[in-house]
Amino acid sequence: MPETQFKPRKVVVVGAGAVGSTFAYALAQSGVADEIAILDRNQELVQGQVLDLAHGLAYYPSVDITVGTSEDYRNAHVIVVTAGAAQRDGQTRLDLLKQNAAIIESIVDDVVAYESNGVVLLVTNPVDVLTYIAHKRSGWERGRVIGSGTVLDSARFRYLLSQQCDVAVHNVHAYVLGEHGDSELAAWSMTHIGGVSIGDYCQQCGGCAGWETVKQDIEEAVRRSAYHIIEYKGATNYAVGMAMVRIVGAILRDDRSVLTVSVPLMGEYGLSEVSLGVPSIVASEGVVGVLEAKLTAQELKALRASAEVLQKALEELEGEG
Ligand code: NAI
Repeated sequence: MPETQFKPRKVVVVGAGAVGSTFAYALAQSGVADEIAILDRNQELVQGQVLDLAHGLAYYPSVDITVGTSEDYRNAHVIVVTAGAAQRDGQTRLDLLKQNAAIIESIVDDVVAYESNGVVLLVTNPVDVLTYIAHKRSGWERGRVIGSGTVLDSARFRYLLSQQCDVAVHNVHAYVLGEHGDSELAAWSMTHIGGVSIGDYCQQCGGCAGWETVKQDIEEAVRRSAYHIIEYKGATNYAVGMAMVRIVGAILRDDRSVLTVSVPLMGEYGLSEVSLGVPSIVASEGVVGVLEAKLTAQELKALRASAEVLQKALEELEGEG
């Protein structure tokens, strides 16, 4: 028998809560991973999630799903971090940030200690600030520690545009940039439907009165999406799970997809010392390039304002530290 060159595509998921388990379920169905190891500090939860997921193995494409340990970091291709504390009553945003930063730093220390060659994908919120902290902590090159950024927000934006414009969401190319949070911006200048700019599409369509108001409403709806869903059902998990599969798939397949992941900037858009969602080329090594879109002056101003919000949070955290 010739020696096989097969190297299993392995993904470690840290955090078996709503987001981690939904992601694992979607990833298993995608067929893009060969092994999924799930870790959580809550051993009962992770055992239960893995059993429940693994009982469906007969109906997934071929994949191993196991309870993992830190040892799994060593040969993982992607380590996806969804571990974190949820905001408790009376807890400030800064307190939550401090708590989650400590969790993320200890996970990154473990990943580095096990000499992982993989890519770390942060999902825990506030994802941009934590991505920056994790990147610094790892000492790794830029691009190997990235955040889910505005990949989910961009999907929400595309969905709302597809509904408004009555076209298939796959033909809507649109991006949300900046913080995954309140200061994010919809990059209208980059928005196209089937190759036609949104402005030209609107002129041809003429379907909505008061397009400027409609635009504002769509942008606000994207920004408020998570609040509404959390109000209705306590967490968001399905769309973020799909966004994570999209990012992890791009890494495992080395497909050089352009996705608005969160990446530490090094002068792009006149920004540095901050990580936020910008169109980036995602390949097996993580982010291998950042695209500098020609934004309007207003969009660039909004992107820089978003960066300031994130830098302020980092400063606050350092001030406490
Ligand atoms: P959850 O509370 O259901 O799950 C979090 C899990 O992390 C828990 O099971 C907990 O035991 C585990 N955990 C905590 N500390 C740990 C540690 N040190 N090591 C291992 N496991 C640990 O929360 P959920 O709903 O799954 O959300 C996870 C995170 O994802 C939150 O920070 C949430 O805000 C964020 N999120 C991010 C999105 C994005 O687009 N970036 C979208 C949706 C949620």
